[in-house]
Amino acid sequence: MGDRSGTPIGDGAGTGLGDLLRSATQTLAGTGVPSPRADAEALLAHALGMPTAEVRRAALLGRGVGDRERAAYEQLVAQRAARVPLQHLTGEAHFRTLTLRVGPGVFVPRPETEVLVDLALAELAEPATYDRARPVVVDLCTGSGAIALAVAAEHPAAKVHAVELEEDAHAWAQANVTATGLPVDLRLGPAQQAFPDLVGAVDLVLSNPPYIPPGSVPVDPEVRDHDPAAALYGLGEDGLQVPLEVAARAAELLVGGGVLLMEHADVQGDDIVQRLRSTGHWAAVEDHPDLTGRPRVVRAVRARP
Ligand SMILES: C[S@@+](CC[C@H](N)C(=O)[O-])C[C@H]1O[C@@H](n2cnc3c(N)ncnc32)[C@H](O)[C@@H]1O
Repeated sequence: MGDRSGTPIGDGAGTGLGDLLRSATQTLAGTGVPSPRADAEALLAHALGMPTAEVRRAALLGRGVGDRERAAYEQLVAQRAARVPLQHLTGEAHFRTLTLRVGPGVFVPRPETEVLVDLALAELAEPATYDRARPVVVDLCTGSGAIALAVAAEHPAAKVHAVELEEDAHAWAQANVTATGLPVDLRLGPAQQAFPDLVGAVDLVLSNPPYIPPGSVPVDPEVRDHDPAAALYGLGEDGLQVPLEVAARAAELLVGGGVLLMEHADVQGDDIVQRLRSTGHWAAVEDHPDLTGRPRVVRAVRARP
């Protein structure tokens, strides 16, 4: 690129990339966007159809962009300043090794859910329990398909099934199954009655269900205004209605000794452990901390009949 330094990207006289990024960063910081510089760079990369690293390099080399590209970029920055999620503007979210398609109508997968996938892979690597050639894994409440697709990508021997209630989210998951080409059996419907054909036959149930209590409306506009309500609120007084229903279905689906791994809010750690223990379905129930030490994933082992 050295011989093209100073050359504008696109048509017109060009605005310097460095100035454009500085101004966008200021605009985004001004409306409370948590990572304004990173978002400014990601949006410019998206607008120009270039990798972010190349945008940084082009800015350092003093290159400019043409008027059309600048206008498109400024429109994206204005939307991000209005707190439209970055992933809705770029149309993609990174989750473990995958780049998933996301947008309005589907929950944007979060980095903390990657911990649940780590725990799932550790379970599948445990030969004492998962000695079947093709362990059966189910993802209840799959959203974009993130958990199911990550397991299918990183443990190809697993036979992975996933279910989602909402038609819009299911359509995004279907797009991700198609785009990745990964073998996930995706279904539409309530997790509470999912997979009648797999009752008693599943080795590992994974879930990141909705779990926010009704009174705890998220502060971040990206979450509050753009993640679907069905993805956020777990219903009941404490947000645990859907998670407990999901766990009850998991108990029906799992083989004796099979494992449920389910994400929850940090404040729900003690409660969910107690409530799962009191069902009598589980031989062992414990909680796993996330990377910051907060309890975020419950692990329950199905009692043998
Ligand atoms: C917190 S999001 C998680 C999505 C995805 N598993 C992830 O980690 O990114 C919860 C998802 O559960 C779906 N959902 C809510 N209630 C459900 C139900 N009863 N059965 C199946 N899916 C449900 C929502 O539509 C949403 O897509």
